[in-house]
Amino acid sequence: MPGEGMIHDARSMSRFKRVLIVLGSVVAVAALAVGGLFTWLWTGADVSTVGKASFQNELAIPPLAESRVEKDGTRVFDLRMQAGETEFKDGRKTPTWGFNGSYLGPTLRAERDEKVRVRIRNGLGEASTVHWHGMHLPARMDGGPHQMIEPGAQWSPHWTVDQPAATLWYHPHPHGETERHVGQGLAGMFILDDERSAGLALPKRYGVDDLPVIVQDVRFDGAKFDHGRKIMQNVGFLGDRTMVNGTLNPYREVTDELIRLRLLNASTARTYAFGFPDGRAFSLIGTDGGLLERPASMERIQLSPGERAEIVVRMRPGERTMLRSFPQDNYGDAWQRRFGGGDDSFDVLELRAAERLRPSAGLPSRLGELEIPDGKDATRGRHFDLKRSGINGRPMAMNRVDETATRGTTETWTVRNSNGMPHNFHVHDVQFRVLEVNGAPPPPELRGPKDTVFLPNGATMKLALRFDGPADPDTPYMYHCHLLYHEDEGMMGQFVVVEKEQRAGPLSGSSAHGDHETGH
Ligand code: C2O
Ligand code: CU
Ligand code: CU
Repeated sequence: MPGEGMIHDARSMSRFKRVLIVLGSVVAVAALAVGGLFTWLWTGADVSTVGKASFQNELAIPPLAESRVEKDGTRVFDLRMQAGETEFKDGRKTPTWGFNGSYLGPTLRAERDEKVRVRIRNGLGEASTVHWHGMHLPARMDGGPHQMIEPGAQWSPHWTVDQPAATLWYHPHPHGETERHVGQGLAGMFILDDERSAGLALPKRYGVDDLPVIVQDVRFDGAKFDHGRKIMQNVGFLGDRTMVNGTLNPYREVTDELIRLRLLNASTARTYAFGFPDGRAFSLIGTDGGLLERPASMERIQLSPGERAEIVVRMRPGERTMLRSFPQDNYGDAWQRRFGGGDDSFDVLELRAAERLRPSAGLPSRLGELEIPDGKDATRGRHFDLKRSGINGRPMAMNRVDETATRGTTETWTVRNSNGMPHNFHVHDVQFRVLEVNGAPPPPELRGPKDTVFLPNGATMKLALRFDGPADPDTPYMYHCHLLYHEDEGMMGQFVVVEKEQRAGPLSGSSAHGDHETGH
C-alpha cells in the first residue's frame, strides 16, 4: 500500500537526518578536539626558563687533567669511563656517567707540537669509544666507531698535536649509541695552546677570567634523567632546562673586566643562540678550530651540537648579567621552530661582577693566522645531501667506505639540506674553511677554522678541506650530522685518506686498531 510506503519514506528520511546531525556533530567535536589538541600542543611546545629561576649554584669548573711527561717528551693523561651518581639537585642522586668522576670529565690541555698519549680505561658495563672532536690525528687514534673499547679494557691512543690553539672536546662515538653515552654525561674539553696565542693579551687564567662553558639541556623525572623524545621532536631529545659544566642554575663571580667564555654546545640535539639580555655586544675571538684573524663584535652567536665559540665579554663593576639563549629566526619554518626547539629560550649562566674589577688589557686587533685552506688549489669537489635517512641517500654502514681522499690534496665539499628539518655537518680530522653560505660569503662566525656547521632546512654551504694527515686506507674517519639522534640513526658516512693511486682497503666491521691492552 502506498500510504505505508510514504510513512516508511518519511521515517527513513528523518532517521537519515538524525544520522546526519549526529555525524555532523561528531565531526565538529572531533575537529574541535583536534584543533584544541593542536593548540594545546603548539602552545605547550616551546620552552623558556627565562626569568623563572634564581641562579644560586656556584658554577663548577672541570678540573685540569693531571698529566706526566715521559722521557721522550710524551704527555700522558689517564681517563677512566665510569658510572656513578651525581647530585644536581639538593639531596637527589642522579645515575650518570663520567670520566674520572661521576659526570663530564677533566679538561685536557696540551701544546702544539707536543706528543700526547691518553690511557683510557673503560669502567662501564658496556663497550664505548672516546673521540677527539676537532683534533687532527691519524684515523686509528680518532676514537670513532671502529675503535671500540670493551668493558674493562684499556685503549691508549697517541699522536702529536699539529694544529693551532683551540677549544676542542672529547666524547664517546659508538655507532648507534652516541646520543645515550653523551647524554649520560661522557664529555670533556680538550684545550690546545700554542706560542702565538700565549703571546696575545687575552684572558687566559683558567677558571678565573677564562671559563669553560659546557652547555647541555636536560630533563628530570624525579631524580633521574628523562631522555625521552617527545613526538614531533624530529631533531632528537630536547630538554626543558639547561646546565653548564653539570651545574643547574649556575652563577659565577668574576673579578676581571674582560671575561673569556669557551662555549661548547655539548647537547645532543639542541641548537642555541647565545647573547645577553641588554643586547651588549661581545667579541668573538675563536671558532671550532682556533682563533679568528681578528675579533668580531656581535650580539648573538648560534651554536649547534658539537660547535664551539670563544667569546670575550666586558663586565661592569657590581653588575649581574645573564648568558642567555634566545629564540632563533633562522632555525626553520614555524613548525620546526616550535616543535624542534627554535622558539625556546634559556637563562644559561649568570655572571656576577665584583664591585672592583681588575683592569684587563684591550683585545689585540690581530689574533691568529688562519691555517685553513682557501680552496683555490682544490683538485676535487664532492656533494653531500643531508637527509635524516642518510647522507647522499644511504645510511651509515660500518664496512663501506663512502669517500676516498688523497693525502696532501684540497677538496671543496658542497653540503645541502633540503630535508625540511635542521641538521648540522661535522667532519673528523680536519678544520675546514666555509667558502660560501647559500652562495654568499660567510658571516664572521663562519670565517674561522670550523669542523661543524649548522644547516637549517634550505641551506647550502661550500667548504674547503685539506687532507694532510697520514694515509691509512684501512681506517676511516667519519662525517656526520652531530644531532646525535640522527647520527645514531645512520646520518653518517666514512672517508679514508690514502696516498696517491692507493685504494681504500676493505674495512672489517668494527675492528679495533690502535694500542689495545686488555686490563681488568
Ligand atoms: Cu663530536 Cu664524530 O663527533
Ligand atoms: Cu668529531
Ligand atoms: Cu641531522
